[in-house]
Formats: sequence, structure tokens, C-alpha cells
Amino acid sequence: MDLLLKGGTIVTADSTFKADIAVKDGKIIAIGTNLKPDKCTEIVDVKGKLVLPGAIDGHTHLAMPFGGTISSDDYYTGTKSAACGGTTTVFDFVLQGKGESMLDAIKRRDAIAAPDAAVDYSFHVGVCDVSTDALLDTMEDALKAGIPSFKVFMVYDFGVDDGSFYKVLQKAAKIGALVGVHAENRDVNNVLVKQYLSEGKTEAWWHYMAKNENVEGEADVRAINLAKMAGTSLYIVHLANKQGVDAVTQARDEGYPIFAETCPQYLHFTSDVYKRERGRDFVCSPPVKGKESQDAIWDAIKRGDITTIATDHCPFTQAEKDWGITTKDGKPGNFTTIPNGCAGIENMYPYVLSEANKGRISFNKAVELCSSNPAKLFGLDHLKGALQVGLDADIVIYDPKKKVTIKNAEMHGNLDHTIWEGVECKGYPVATYSRGTLVYKDGKFLGNKGAGKLIKCKPIKLNSPTL
Ligand code: URP
Ligand code: ZN
Ligand code: ZN
Repeated sequence: MDLLLKGGTIVTADSTFKADIAVKDGKIIAIGTNLKPDKCTEIVDVKGKLVLPGAIDGHTHLAMPFGGTISSDDYYTGTKSAACGGTTTVFDFVLQGKGESMLDAIKRRDAIAAPDAAVDYSFHVGVCDVSTDALLDTMEDALKAGIPSFKVFMVYDFGVDDGSFYKVLQKAAKIGALVGVHAENRDVNNVLVKQYLSEGKTEAWWHYMAKNENVEGEADVRAINLAKMAGTSLYIVHLANKQGVDAVTQARDEGYPIFAETCPQYLHFTSDVYKRERGRDFVCSPPVKGKESQDAIWDAIKRGDITTIATDHCPFTQAEKDWGITTKDGKPGNFTTIPNGCAGIENMYPYVLSEANKGRISFNKAVELCSSNPAKLFGLDHLKGALQVGLDADIVIYDPKKKVTIKNAEMHGNLDHTIWEGVECKGYPVATYSRGTLVYKDGKFLGNKGAGKLIKCKPIKLNSPTL
């Protein structure tokens, strides 16, 4: 054996117990009490610490072109930052180009990711063009290459219309794939944007108002209906509003395989952030909503109607956020000229575990939301998402007593600010192992660029709301 983690408290999605963990060649080879090391085993005393499966962040945008720029974390700085927050796998988005096959899109993106990624990674394909049957059929090629999950955008100029969305759902039903959706009503948003701008309402607050609770909720309801019509499962990404939560809950109560992801920013902040002096730093889509929505999301988490938490990490610098005041061409800016997205790749597991440590949810629930459920949902539970013999030794050592106040200066990504500045975490990850290799310890990144592997996922067949 290469590594023996001795005397810790193991936390999985369904149990908590004291045991040692033995690792060899990147895999967990034994879990039990008083495991005996070999001559060359490194022994690490983890008494008083929690031992958790590494988080799987199902939603990141590394080096993503958006709003006239590119998100500031590339696959190296983003995955380095992930590792330092206890995340050992990230799912990034491949945006299909016009006329591009999904497989070509994956290969194009992997050529950028593979040399850089410091932890394991996989992709969802952001579907932009299914204008021909041949292009639609390339979903199956992606699936055969180990990428069985797709995302459609109901907003943005690169998004699809309902007809294309429906075709993608039908195809997914046929081949065993999962369709994720960014649900916001594009047409209503466009109308509101025009109205607000014509009234001189240019500040960040109006981003929220133009993408308010109903703008998101209506699209959630429509997306669920389309999935029901196509007879397939659906994964609503970054769910942030109460109407959507209610629709997901109802569909699940009726037995439909409808799943939802939310993000830490929707759990911690409310739309009041858009009234701050630098409210533009919080401009993301969907925007953070009011307290009623936040409470509904927390209640849904407790009930089991939110399946995963992911970050939607898509960082832009303050200078880029300032394009909401003056655009990069020197013209007067407004809320539509701010690149959409916030950072969080290093903050998800610390934040959710801290909420667990404060008693809001159990540690088991935190592991389920951030690791086990994403593994099951995206088809990689044969490798990751639990602490079990035979699985990858993606392990986080968590000190429940350590207190950390988040400071951007201490984060490991490539950004000059964070919306998480000053947020206090009760407990913090103190070490992260990626396939048995120590990649983070006590505030320092110890991993290597390019050490992360592309994870090939299994086809996804979900017939009920239970994973
Ligand atoms: O504001 C966000 N979330 N930007 C990234 C793209 C998306 O919609 O997920
Ligand atoms: Zn989105
Ligand atoms: Zn996103």
C-alpha cells in the first residue's frame, strides 16, 4: 500500500464511522480499523478530522468566451483552485460551434484542457446547432466517447429554440443521455431589457429585474413539460427561483425523472447584492433571487428535491465587470454589457460543509449533494463520488475546527476579487488527494499541471426521481 490515512472519521452520503483508509496505485484498497501498513507506506494521522470523498463540481466554465472576453481561469488555474477547495473532478462545458459535430467540439476543447488540468475533468456538451439530423446524431458519438450529458440554453444568442430543445430531449431518450437546461425566458428578458434601458435603468439591479423570478420560473416549467412530452429525464442547472423549485418538486412527486442543481451563490446571497456599490460583480445568469426563493431552495435541499450543488464558476475581472459602466470600446455601459458569471470553484465544498458544520444540513447530505449525486447523475460512480474499495482515492481531509474567512488574496485561481470575500467558514478542507496524490495541504497547492485525466462517463438512463 502507498498511503494509509489513519484514525479519521469517514463521512459518506449514507454513513459516518471511524476507520482507516488504505490507498494503492491511486485506488482505495481497504477501509477498516487498525489497517496495517507495509514497509513503504506513508502513514498520515487524521485523528479528529473528517475524511470525505472529493467534491465533483458539475458546472464550470474555464477559459470560456463570453460577452466579448474569456473567463479568467483557464484549465490550470481553475482546477488548481478547485483542488484547494476539496474538489477533485470538474465538469466543464464544451460549446458546440455552428455546423460542428459534438465529437469535434469535445476534441477541440480537450486539446486545451488535457495539458493544463490539475485534477480530473469531464465535459457536458453545450448544444448550439442541431439544424440537421446529422448534427443531432453526433450526440450519440459524444456519448460513445464517454460524454453522455448535454446542456441547452433557452437564453443567450447561442441558445436554442424550443423545437431544437425538444429534438435534443427526444434523442437523449433514445440513446441514454442526460439533458441539462439553462432555463430563462429569452423573449421576455429581451422585452424587459429594452424597456429598462429606454427608461435609463442601466445599473446591475436591472439585470436582476430583467431576469426576475418569473422569467426563470416560466422557463423551468416549460422545460419540465418538454421533458415530460419527450419521455425523458431533465437536469435543470443553476436553479435559483421558487416557482422552479415548486415545479421540480411537483414533477418529482409525480414520479418524473426531473433533477435540479443549485449553486452556493443562490444559497448565501439574495438580490440585495445588486444594490451594493459593486453590485455588477454579482451579475450572473440566472441572477441571485430574493429571500423567498433562497428559502425555497434550502427547503428543497432538505426534502431531497435538489439533487446536486455545483458552482457555475465563470470568473471575470473587476475591469471586465466595469464594462457595465464604460464598455471596452469606451461607450456608456449598462447591465447587459457586463460579462455574466461569478467565481466559486474553490468555495463550494468549504461553504456547503461549513453550513453542515453549523447544523443546517448533515455532513452526509453535503457529501451527497457535492460528490455522490453528481457521480451517479453524470455516470461516473464506477470511479468517483464515494469512499469505497475499488474507487479512485479522491479524498478530502476536513478539519471541522479550523475557521477561515474567505479572502481573494488566499484563493488559488486567477481573479482579482471574489463575491465570497469576508464570508466565514466554520471548518475547512486541510488536504486533498487526487487519485491518491496529495494536491493540496494547509493552504498550499501541491499538484501538477496536466496531471488531471479526462473521465469517460457511462450512458445515463434515469427513469425515476431516485438515483
Ligand atoms: O452567468 C453565468 N452563469 N455565466 C456562465 C454561462 C451560464 O449561463 O452558465
Ligand atoms: Zn447557464
Ligand atoms: Zn453555467
